[in-house]
Amino acid sequence: MSSTIQVTRHVVCIPFPAQGHINPMLKLAKLLHNKGIYITFVNTEFNHKRLIKSRGVDSVKGLPDFQFHTIPDGLPPSDVDSTQDIDSLCFSTKKNCGAPFRNLLTKLDETPDIPRVTCVVSDGHMSFTLAVAKEFGLPEYLFWTTSACGFMGYLHYRHLLEKGLILHKDEGCRTIGFLETVVDIPGFDNIRLMDFPAFARITDPNDKMIEYILGETENATKASGIILNTFDELENEVVEAMRSGNLSLPPLFTLGALHILIDQIQQTDELKSVGSNLWKEEPECLRWLNTKEPNSVVYVNFGSITVMTTQQLIEFAWGLANSKQTFLWVIRPDLVQQDSAKLPIEFLEETKERSLFPNWCPQEEVLNHPAIGGFLTHCGWNSTLESIYGGVPMICWPFFAEQQTNCRYACKHWGIGMEIDNNVKRDEVEELVKELMEGDKGKEMKSKAMVWKRKGMEAVAPGGSSYVNLNKIVDEILHASS
Ligand code: UDX
Repeated sequence: MSSTIQVTRHVVCIPFPAQGHINPMLKLAKLLHNKGIYITFVNTEFNHKRLIKSRGVDSVKGLPDFQFHTIPDGLPPSDVDSTQDIDSLCFSTKKNCGAPFRNLLTKLDETPDIPRVTCVVSDGHMSFTLAVAKEFGLPEYLFWTTSACGFMGYLHYRHLLEKGLILHKDEGCRTIGFLETVVDIPGFDNIRLMDFPAFARITDPNDKMIEYILGETENATKASGIILNTFDELENEVVEAMRSGNLSLPPLFTLGALHILIDQIQQTDELKSVGSNLWKEEPECLRWLNTKEPNSVVYVNFGSITVMTTQQLIEFAWGLANSKQTFLWVIRPDLVQQDSAKLPIEFLEETKERSLFPNWCPQEEVLNHPAIGGFLTHCGWNSTLESIYGGVPMICWPFFAEQQTNCRYACKHWGIGMEIDNNVKRDEVEELVKELMEGDKGKEMKSKAMVWKRKGMEAVAPGGSSYVNLNKIVDEILHASS
């Protein structure tokens, strides 16, 4: 219990039920808790079961003033140990979770001995909560866990639709030439159609994701504020364009480097033990890294949702083998579509002295380990940010969502990435990995990654943009009238 500040404010934090959304929301919740705010953190029942399984415990224990609750995600019960289908999750939470969320708020208000709920912080993809918060007279902040550039891409889906630039497979416009069309948007420079969040490339005219995204971005204008997991210096032009008022957005709070802000607070051991991994971490990979030379290991990880074909897996494998580099390759059990990830015996034999294959790792610690010299990634936003905070250059293989946008910015704006063709081939993997780890371009990207790392650290230092914005939003929450 935070003894120094009278506990009067109660914030309900509800992430979108996927790893890349739960992680930043939990960090934000801990930062708010550190300011004396009572926290209710809402997981879905499906993820709650996965959290318990990944930690080998029988319940997710919080603290007296940091409590976990669950609501259904509206999908049929499943015991699959994997992220559910993202489209289904988007549609189902939007359609089915309003009532359970309302019931939870009612239950909290009827619970004695805890502060009344005074504010909601909801994932931008859970904006159905806005109407419920309004019923309870509560202010609500939407936390878009994507990059600012990714969010900017989503905000312009209507623009693409009106310009006839949203793609259908039945139109001849899926040619590369068309995808290279540059879309002129103030603050969103040098962006081609192919760099927009990938849902715009719909292949089925009955696809509902465009309609869903249009709804979520429209709701963003109704929030008390928008929180973005980035720092001003990294995405300045985009953030300024969002703040210009042309997009009718509420106040924007950039809170980058959440995990560094977290490191600055005195987390109790109990709070530190409150984790969010949906898979069981294998910390032994850190001991393995301790035996490696600085900047000598390629870290390979495709996040919590990316899937690939067996052929793509094999192309990445032989490209890594032929690069002669040492590598740490995290292979989630569900990485390969409709199959388990079977690596060729010859590959395993050839690389056994210079490789490790955990199923899940403490990624932030790995990316801050001195042995890591480069990151082969899918460009999920948390991974991209964590690579920047580790000062680690990237090879980008974007899969879906706003990863294409993140990749474009990493390669063209920040100078810390090289893109690998989606139709991955071992020769290109070998060539880019060698360049990343030994070439002049790799050295140049490493140097730029260290500059962005320093800027990120400045953003969370007293007076930095993230530091100031955290205090601003806490001040708003502490003074929120409900
Ligand atoms: C998804 C989308 O892909 C991403 O584009 C969006 O911005 C957030 O939601 P995900 O694909 O899981 O995220 O990737 P990412 O954003 O990188 O988030 C993965 C998180 O899991 C990171 O915080 C990473 O540190 C963590 N992780 C991943 C681990 O802790 N261990 C692992 O082995 C792999």
